Amino acid sequence: MKTIVVYYSRKGSNQYLARKIAGSLFCDIEKIRPRLNLFLLFLLKIHLGIRPLKHRIKEYERIILCGPIWMGRFIPPLRSFVSKYIQEINQLVFVTCCGSTYEKKDEKFGHGLVFKEVEGMLKGKCTLCQAFPIVLVLPDDQKEDTEAFMKTHLNDDNFKGEIEVQFESFISTLKDGIN
Ligand SMILES: Cc1cc2nc3c(=O)[nH]c(=O)nc-3n(C[C@H](O)[C@H](O)[C@H](O)COP(=O)(O)O)c2cc1C
Repeated sequence: MKTIVVYYSRKGSNQYLARKIAGSLFCDIEKIRPRLNLFLLFLLKIHLGIRPLKHRIKEYERIILCGPIWMGRFIPPLRSFVSKYIQEINQLVFVTCCGSTYEKKDEKFGHGLVFKEVEGMLKGKCTLCQAFPIVLVLPDDQKEDTEAFMKTHLNDDNFKGEIEVQFESFISTLKDGIN
């Protein structure tokens, strides 16, 4: 299935994840470039959209969209990508490295609510949503430690154990081609 990974990342975890997915699937990858890349303005919902992508989105059967969650929201750069290319998207998989855990996914700042929003926006074109909570790479005694998770970013040293198992299972699902 012709696939491209399209991603946005501020602190690097989602960039790491996006590159890892593209490397595993041997597919294209492109970074979303906001016209104004100012984090504080994003939080205030002030957003001037994104620059056109270099790849032609409609030539891909599947888009893997990857990026963080902030304040329980589908963040402006990712939202802009969906709004701008909605007519050209055939099928979309949403992936996030986020702060919320699987247990808390349906709480106010959980990724579950964002997944529902993405599915609603894509109207049937979103076939899979997957979260890789940052706690997966934290030792047991730091899993409840907010400061530890805010300071932790995915890298080759910590992408091991539980997260690697989840990742391999996610990649096999994608390779099956149903999603
Ligand atoms: C201001 C701010 C708000 C955040 N809010 C949420 C949230 O509501 N839910 C969540 O799951 N993670 C939240 N996070 C955690 C980020 O999603 C997480 O740190 C992510 O891995 C950052 O991705 P990046 O390294 O690619 O920028 C927040 C992080 C920041 C900095």
